Amino acid sequence: MVKLIFKEDNLSMKDRTFGIIKPDAVSKNLIGAVLKRIEDEGLKIVAMKMIRMTKAQAKGFYKVHEGKPFYESVTDFMSSGPCVVMVLEGDDAVKKYRAIMGATNYKEAKEGTIRHIYATDIEKNIVHGSDSRENAEFEIGYFFNALEMKGD
Ligand code: CMP
Repeated sequence: MVKLIFKEDNLSMKDRTFGIIKPDAVSKNLIGAVLKRIEDEGLKIVAMKMIRMTKAQAKGFYKVHEGKPFYESVTDFMSSGPCVVMVLEGDDAVKKYRAIMGATNYKEAKEGTIRHIYATDIEKNIVHGSDSRENAEFEIGYFFNALEMKGD
């Protein structure tokens, strides 16, 4: 009988999620503050780059929101200036990063969360984070290829 070298467990890696430091945060010089918070909370940044999305790229990224009243506006905003896209790794990364960010609407975000501290608008809400592992996979693949991600 062939002996398996890798059990399935050995092939799985820590959870990954995808995040954006949005154009409002970049223009307010908040890149460092957001990254420090992420690292202090124990998430590892395994890929990162500054980009400027075209309107078409922003529309593709937010395709799940197509047809919603804020779709045009949020894609205008996300293509209005540079942003930082990143892949974060850690235990329960999707849930953990969402907890650090706080609610989409900064008015509902818990005290101490990134959006509670820095956001000024439901649209210009400083950061984005994937809402599920499935979406994280799509969003990471939208911006990064395997060569751009740090392997351990
Ligand atoms: P994000 O987490 O990036 O996901 C969709 C984005 O659309 C959201 O953050 C906001 O920037 C923006 N947006 C604007 N209005 C709304 C709204 N009413 N509900 C959800 N998202 C909104």
